[in-house]
Amino acid sequence: MNVGVIGSGTMGSGIAQVAATAGCMVSLFDTNQSALDKAKANLEKVLSRLIEKGRIDEAEKNRIQSNISYVKQLQDLSEVNLVIEAIVEDLSIKQAVFSELETMVSESCIIASNTSSLSIASIAASLKKPERCIGIHFFNPAPLMKLVEVIPAVQTSEKTLESCVNTIKDWGKIVAIAKDTPGFIVNRVARPFYGESLRIYEEGLADFATIDDSLKTLGGFRMGPFELMDFIGNDVNYTVTETVFEAFYYDPRYKPSFTQKRLSEAGYLGRKSGKGYYDYNEGSQRPKPDENEELSRLIFERVLVMLINEAADALFLNIASPEDIDLAMTKGVNYPKGLLAWADEMGINWCVERMDALYDEYHEDRYRCSPLLRKMNRDQKTFF
Ligand code: NAI
Repeated sequence: MNVGVIGSGTMGSGIAQVAATAGCMVSLFDTNQSALDKAKANLEKVLSRLIEKGRIDEAEKNRIQSNISYVKQLQDLSEVNLVIEAIVEDLSIKQAVFSELETMVSESCIIASNTSSLSIASIAASLKKPERCIGIHFFNPAPLMKLVEVIPAVQTSEKTLESCVNTIKDWGKIVAIAKDTPGFIVNRVARPFYGESLRIYEEGLADFATIDDSLKTLGGFRMGPFELMDFIGNDVNYTVTETVFEAFYYDPRYKPSFTQKRLSEAGYLGRKSGKGYYDYNEGSQRPKPDENEELSRLIFERVLVMLINEAADALFLNIASPEDIDLAMTKGVNYPKGLLAWADEMGINWCVERMDALYDEYHEDRYRCSPLLRKMNRDQKTFF
């Protein structure tokens, strides 16, 4: 199969590696020569490291490298069967590239976008044949993260969807199909992990280290929310939250936090700037978490129930199947368990009681219990 990748930055170069490893002939296009050079040099480094680790041999490295050609003209993608675009997150630029591309490729070529926050419908609208357009959303780093969200727009044909799902599975990835709504599955369902943790901090209930420790120790999350936000970058994480909040017509459940906004404004971006919620400069010490077990439990249960409520509501609104919602969170962001399976384990009644207790305390729409949880509780049902 011939695959075109547009944009050779972080995501595009990773996607090209995935496709080339799976045996596709990949044309990686970027308007910026230095981005192409960097992608090529990075791949050399990544593959050499895999050889050192004994994961691949020299022949495999050569095979993968020779499957990728680095091209500087959009015209060079004219023979491909599938194009995945991973350029700047700007609707008008993506639309311009898509409509130019459509004049060069065959009638049957599928044109996909790796966008994280734009609607696939709006991107597809730039095409004469919008039924060939779809969202294929990889996670960073693309070669390592197993999950790919596939997002059909209202215009997308069944044939396009089916063909994409098969291709992505052939590339060794796990597919979750999501509705074309803000944040798709992962970036929507994960919001309370950050948002509720920030809220707990802002209320003065606990500091960053205590909240992180409680979610790691009691929840089994690999990283605490503040460690993770520092890792992602407060600027990037804040922007995703703000975009999702706006896209949901300002639903208070997705309200961004001033704490994170101020950190971002101050340039405390996290690891990459040496300081975020924690100090990453040499010699700095991590503050110790509070060892109050009751407080720890309270924090963990509050964040967990908000995550479960978000996952249940995504199911209620038919964003994805229960299986795909759980797969997305375990394979896309390495949650220790799927949230719906976790709800079954904690008990649906427990979830409803916790949400109602939060709502009673705050009287904020943010804490409204998903109607699905309430209905399941009444009918004594479980998710699986
Ligand atoms: P990036 O900034 O690393 O790379 C973008 C590349 O596109 C650059 O090399 C740039 O030269 C090139 N480019 C810009 N305009 C172009 C044009 N008109 N034609 C050809 N090439 C052009 O960006 P990144 O992080 O790889 O993101 C790309 C897309 O993937 C965005 O839509 C983003 O929302 C999405 N995404 C990003 C994730 C991440 O963690 N970085 C995760 C999942 C999706």
